[in-house]
Amino acid sequence: MSILVTGGAGYIGSHVLRLLRDRGDDVVVIDDLSTGRLERIGDVPCVTINLAADDSPDLIAQVIAAYGVTAVIHLAAKKQVGESVERPGFYYRENVGGLANLFLGIEGTPVDRFVFSSSAAVYGSPASSTVREMDATQPVNPYGETKLAGEWLVRAAAHSLGIKTVSLRYFNVAGAGWPDLGDSKPLNLLTLAIAAIERGDQPVIFGDDFPTQDGTGVRDYVHVSDLAAAHLVALDGLAGGLEHDVFNVGTGTGASVREILAELQRVSGEDREPRITARRAGDPATVVADITRITQELSWRAERGVADMVESAWSAHLHERAGLAGVPVAPERA
Ligand code: UD1
Repeated sequence: MSILVTGGAGYIGSHVLRLLRDRGDDVVVIDDLSTGRLERIGDVPCVTINLAADDSPDLIAQVIAAYGVTAVIHLAAKKQVGESVERPGFYYRENVGGLANLFLGIEGTPVDRFVFSSSAAVYGSPASSTVREMDATQPVNPYGETKLAGEWLVRAAAHSLGIKTVSLRYFNVAGAGWPDLGDSKPLNLLTLAIAAIERGDQPVIFGDDFPTQDGTGVRDYVHVSDLAAAHLVALDGLAGGLEHDVFNVGTGTGASVREILAELQRVSGEDREPRITARRAGDPATVVADITRITQELSWRAERGVADMVESAWSAHLHERAGLAGVPVAPERA
């Protein structure tokens, strides 16, 4: 019996993988290595498959048979909001098509548990600052649409294939559980700010005139190790009787852009003042998870806060920089 982790060579997937390995589970990875990196997964077997390709269902079925897979954690997906607006067809093909092929590959196999990586992007610009799972889902970009369509497909497949499923709606993921597993792509606030510091530029604040405590956007930042742990409790919960199939994964507490950047100044010792620009189109003022459901039903709660996230992201950045400079770096623990 083993667990298939799609996207296991990615930033979040590699954290999930390491936690599964640490507790002694057998694992196998499917990853197309478009953004994933083999060095993140050590000696875990990895089969290179693009889930969206026509021949993937057969290949997936072969992997399931060869490794005795009975549970799947599906993270492989495209996740850039801006790119999804420019290339919606590509995003639907990769995220929805890839998931559809995955279920075609699962059909008729012993797989009976499935955890899907969804996103708070399914809520769009929420009407209230704290969002509950039963609130309206109105994504405002194709990326969020593909995650919502993914949840629908997961539900339909659960019904028709008789498997148990959970969709986890991630809020703003940050930090690193180990220095060698950092988020190396500058695509969100913390990684963009670190990249700016690295270039000798000022981090940028997209608007300081929001109706929030300090005028900057407020989000629910969750440490990637806490998020990874949520996958394991969800998987374990599926072995029992879960009441719901969708869970927010956040801390339940918001932090502003200014708070994150102040923490980064403290941790990095770089005192370059952020530059204020106009608001970014489509950015809501505040998005924070209501975590009642996951706390009550899965007994999961985030254990780490903003300081942990920023410190570990900075350590991972230094680790990567040392590696790029040719200094040998060991995959130590954070
Ligand atoms: C993030 C995810 C999105 C996910 C959503 C909810 C990214 C790129 N986007 O969106 O996929 O669906 O959470 O889970 O990871 N900001 C700045 N300066 C910067 C960058 C960002 O001020 O250089 C501000 C933004 O205006 C926002 C906050 O920082 O207030 C967070 O932005 P970002 O990290 O891009 O995440 P979200 O837009 O919340």
